[in-house]
Parts: sequence; structure tokens; C-alpha cells
Amino acid sequence: MLNQIKEIAEKLTPRLIEIRRHFHAHPELSGQEYQTAAYVAGVLSSCGLQVQEAVGKTGVIGHLTGQNSDSRTLAIRTDMDALPIQERTNLDFASRHPGIMHACGHDVHTTVGLGTAMILSQLSQNIPGKIRFLFQPAEEIAQGASWMIQDGAMRGVDAIFGVHVFPSIPARCVGIRYGALTAAADDLEIFIQGESGHGGRPHEAIDAIWIASQVITSLQQAISRTQNPLRPLVLTIGEICGGRAPNVIADQVRLAGTVRSLHPETHANLPHWIEGIVKNVCQTYGAKYEMNYRRGVPSVQNDTILTQIIEQSSREAFGNEYVEIITEPSLGAEDFALYLEQAPGSMFRLGVGRCEEINHPLHHPQFEIDESSIFTGVVTLAYSAYKYWQQYSQN
Ligand code: NI
Repeated sequence: MLNQIKEIAEKLTPRLIEIRRHFHAHPELSGQEYQTAAYVAGVLSSCGLQVQEAVGKTGVIGHLTGQNSDSRTLAIRTDMDALPIQERTNLDFASRHPGIMHACGHDVHTTVGLGTAMILSQLSQNIPGKIRFLFQPAEEIAQGASWMIQDGAMRGVDAIFGVHVFPSIPARCVGIRYGALTAAADDLEIFIQGESGHGGRPHEAIDAIWIASQVITSLQQAISRTQNPLRPLVLTIGEICGGRAPNVIADQVRLAGTVRSLHPETHANLPHWIEGIVKNVCQTYGAKYEMNYRRGVPSVQNDTILTQIIEQSSREAFGNEYVEIITEPSLGAEDFALYLEQAPGSMFRLGVGRCEEINHPLHHPQFEIDESSIFTGVVTLAYSAYKYWQQYSQN
């Protein structure tokens, strides 16, 4: 089966590269993936898949039914959206849409999803169950997964695989991570209300800017002194806004930030813990406060058995030297986590790094990939899907 998959993948590669370049040249922002979705739907139906459009707004689902002796459904999820970035590569297939760029590799993900569907549709007689290809919109704004789930994309799904490109892993390699892959990411907003006054008479005012700086400092110190250092926690205030004139004490400050954590207990306790600190500081100096804490996406926790399937598939397909076990999680966020609340799953990192060249990070205006990664991606996913059924039909 592996040889058949590789053979088909090899034949398909020139076409897949063409498809990827098409997506790269025509990026669309989160929730506006109309052309991409139409293109995806066209390819899926040309492979004989049953296609569902406008799932989760601009999402697409392709249904592939194998022999049907097993009623299990495996989902494979890829995302389609681009970023509001002005591309600065010199590629001849660089973005034709000003200010929009596939700088997170979702053009590769969509292509790999399509390539896997093309391969498995040719081998459907070897697949005992059903595969559902989820082409998700709006990952960059962490909305698309929940839109898809609301529209029933995960109904009846038993397991799910996902993929994300990674520039610091060389192309032709696959990165496998057991357990936590990405962090839970929440949004924090704090308003501090003091009292305005003359810049030369601080004792008659309540300085919201100074109190805000105390809040930030206290939060950062409290992380190091009250949180378990073996459970990562990052709190970044990325926005601060307040004051109107250099000689007027500010009465209002707004702070906004992101809070990243990995451990479920740390995550659960965050609003309470943060509010305790904000409240103490504000009370001490006579200010009022309001805090809004919004839960974002949870941490991606890869399932052990499904991760083993991907690891074994890639070891067999490419050899041990092309498989990297990732030892550290990332504090980035990924809405793939929301699917994992519906069914167990695993997401792997697809190496796209180019030899002897600068590999710009994800979301960089000069981000570019080694296209040999497309072959690696489709073979990994197609063979992992096959091995998933092998494993479960034996049990
Ligand atoms: Ni991404």
C-alpha cells in the first residue's frame, strides 16, 4: 500500500505544485475564502467525492466512502485562509492580491488536503470506512473550526488528523509531538479608572497610568513567584492606551493582551488569579477597574495512539532520519484544538525549511517553503489514514 501511495503521489506532484502556486497567488482573508473554496470543491468532485459547500460559512467538506465494512469515520482537516500581510518575496507566483499573503503556509495545507483526497480516492477499495476531508476557513482569527463544528462537520467523526507547516524543520522531514502541541490562548482586557488632575499635584489625583504600570509589573512578578515554573504561562500586554496631555494625570487606561498556558489547571484558574492581582493593586491606590477575560482556543493535545500512527507511517515512508520527535510544545495557538473536544486527534508538523537559505518564520512577508514538502505531506496523511484502519480493523 505504501508503494502505491508513493507512486500516485509522485505522479501527482507536478499538478499539486501547480495547485499550491495557484492558491499562493490568490490568497483570501479569513472568512472570505470564496475562490479557494470553489476551487477545492471543483477538485474534490472531479475525484468523485461527495462535496458539501458553505459549511462553516466558506468551508468545504469532501466525503470519501471506502468499502464500508467498517463504519468508522476519519477526518482530515486543513485550513485555507491567508493573512493581511503585503508579500515581499520575489516569486513569480507571489500574491496577486495587494496586502494579502499566504504567510502561514495554508496554501500548502489546502494542497496537501486535496492531494491526500486524490490519492485515497484512487485507493478507496483498500479503505474499509469513511474519510471526511475538512477544508476549514478562518483559522487565523480562530473562528473557522467552531463555524465548521456548529454546522455539523464533526458529527459521527471518530478521529481527526491535522497538519501545519514548520520552517525550522527541513523539508522532507516530519515533526511528531506527543501530548501538548500548542497553547491555550485567551484574551485579556483591563480598564483602570482613576481620577484626573494637575500633573504637578499628584496627591489630588489617582494616576491611572502609574497604577496600570503597577498592574503590569505585579502580574509579571507574580508569574515568577506564584505559578508553577514547570507549567508554562505567558502573559503579554500588547496594547496600552491612556492619557491626553503631558501635564494632565490620566484618569483612564485600557490594557489588552494575550494569555498563553499549557496545563489545564493553570488555564482553568487564570481569570481568578489575574483578577486577584488587578483588584489588589487598584484597591491599594484607590482606582476602580473592570476586567474582561475571554477564553480563546484551548491547547492542542495530541492523542497518543493516533500520534503513534503518524509516527510509524512517516518512519516507514521516509526513514528514521526524516522523522523528528518534537520535545517542546509551542505557545502559539491553533483552533484545531476545538475539533479535539469532539474526537481524539493528532496534528503533525510538516518540515518546509530550505537548505542553505534563510528560512523566514511563519507570518513573515518573505516566508517561503520548499515545495518538496507537499509530497511528504500527502504521503504522510494518506498512509496514516490507511494505517488508522489497519489498526482498528485488527481490534
Ligand atoms: Ni497557520
